[in-house]
Amino acid sequence: MDYLVLILCLYLLWGLFQALSFVARGGRKARPSNLPPGPRPLPIIGNLHQLGDLPHKSLAKLARTYGPIIKLELGFVTTVVISSPALAKEILQTHDAVFSNRMVPNSVMAHDHDKFSVAWVPVSPLFRYLRKIYNSQIFSSKKLDLNQHLRSKKVQELITSVRKCACAGEAVNISEAAFRTSLNAISNTVFSLDMMEPLHPARELKEVVWQIAAEAGKPNLADYFPVLKKIGLRGPKHRLEVHFEKIFNIFDDLTQRRLQLRTETGSDKCNDVLDNLLDLVEDKNETLDMSLVKHLCLDIFVAGGETTASTLEWAMTELLCNPEKLVRAQAELHQVIGKGKQIEEADIPRLPYLQAIVKENFRLHPAAPLLVPRKSGEDFIAGGFTIPKGAQVLINVWAMGRDPSIWDDPDKFMPERFLGSDIDVRGQNFELLPFGGGRRICPGLPLALRMLPLMLGSLINIFNWRLEEGVTPENMNMEDKFGMAIQRAESLKAVPIPV
Ligand code: HEM
Repeated sequence: MDYLVLILCLYLLWGLFQALSFVARGGRKARPSNLPPGPRPLPIIGNLHQLGDLPHKSLAKLARTYGPIIKLELGFVTTVVISSPALAKEILQTHDAVFSNRMVPNSVMAHDHDKFSVAWVPVSPLFRYLRKIYNSQIFSSKKLDLNQHLRSKKVQELITSVRKCACAGEAVNISEAAFRTSLNAISNTVFSLDMMEPLHPARELKEVVWQIAAEAGKPNLADYFPVLKKIGLRGPKHRLEVHFEKIFNIFDDLTQRRLQLRTETGSDKCNDVLDNLLDLVEDKNETLDMSLVKHLCLDIFVAGGETTASTLEWAMTELLCNPEKLVRAQAELHQVIGKGKQIEEADIPRLPYLQAIVKENFRLHPAAPLLVPRKSGEDFIAGGFTIPKGAQVLINVWAMGRDPSIWDDPDKFMPERFLGSDIDVRGQNFELLPFGGGRRICPGLPLALRMLPLMLGSLINIFNWRLEEGVTPENMNMEDKFGMAIQRAESLKAVPIPV
């Protein structure tokens, strides 16, 4: 009899657990069969404990055991991780329509950002409209050509500040300098504005962007246990509410100043992104309004700043660890541009080795190693397994970049592998996808591919670099830190010497 009571209790507990799981999963039904292989999940936490501090590396390791498509339970979120170019192509290109919506993190719901941001809205007329604005009004070749002088000025200032360190024999904190220059190049492209200008309200912008990126990069339990969203604990979402409020106030202020200038002068002669957007707001046939402009600017700063900065820092790190590659790059620059000169965007096509360095660096250090999570719109068969509807889909581009079945000596920094090769980073070569692919490919790609060679090329054409006392390529900490963009765990500091 006692046994019967015990079994009944166990059944009741099991039933209760299943019901709670169902609620926590947001009410989705039982899974289809033939799910991808993967490690056995623990109750409640699933496989969360297997992610570690560097999920792209832990997932690459799991892929070596279970194959190029694996399934994990992250809390109550079924997650499928893809680690092969063939399957990435299915998800990002062939069946793009099924996978082009995002898994929206709880924190970006602050200020309804998820409802107005191109990065999070589902594929819809608004999404297509915003993408059209990015492609034709912000980052088209024509528009970027028109405001390239704004970025060139920022690189000039970077050189001036590095020269001061060179004169004093001081090391440059490359991470700091890269973030400042990337953000300044972006703020000039968008607002014709220097964020470092004293007494200007926008000088706070750098700090706020930094805080937003830091907050958005932190793991949030509410994303794995949907039931926590309903409890409404004060967490990352609340903190982002505060930061978004601050940044929106800065954007409001800048926009008001510009509107006043346009009224006073009767023209829009800045030729920057803000002018282009305000022209659209004033055009009655367009959907764009001031609220959308604010969310759009937020995306540009947050998505563009840290990604570009950490990519530049990694590229400098690789060159300092591989002096013979640095010498070869400098030889190309000295020959094509002239020793000691700043490079301009128009020079980039004439610098194949510099471009190869940028690609090789993207292969080894993609700023978003798992891309930005997608969501499966239906039960879908890929690689012989079912990706269930509603599952989070991650593409491990970091794992593909280091896969020895795709690349010779994958851990070696060898820009030469891209010389004379057609492989590019624009979403057509699925073994190299630092910007993702398909209809959600990074819209900032054209800007990033101008800024990176511009900054990197100028830094190495004007200066020689040496590591700080006691640091050698052999003992240098090459670990990374997972966040909104993958950064170096330890900031790179290097001493510039004029060439
Ligand atoms: C090294 C620089 C950069 C890297 C590596 C990078 C990488 C990425 C990746 C991997 C995605 C997700 C793509 C996908 O889901 O397939 C993305 C999306 C996005 N990026 Fe970038 N990005 C960079 C720079 C920029 C810049 C400079 C901007 C803007 C100024 C920008 C704006 C965006 C936006 C708005 C999205 C969301 C697009 C959407 O969901 O439709 N990014 N980026």
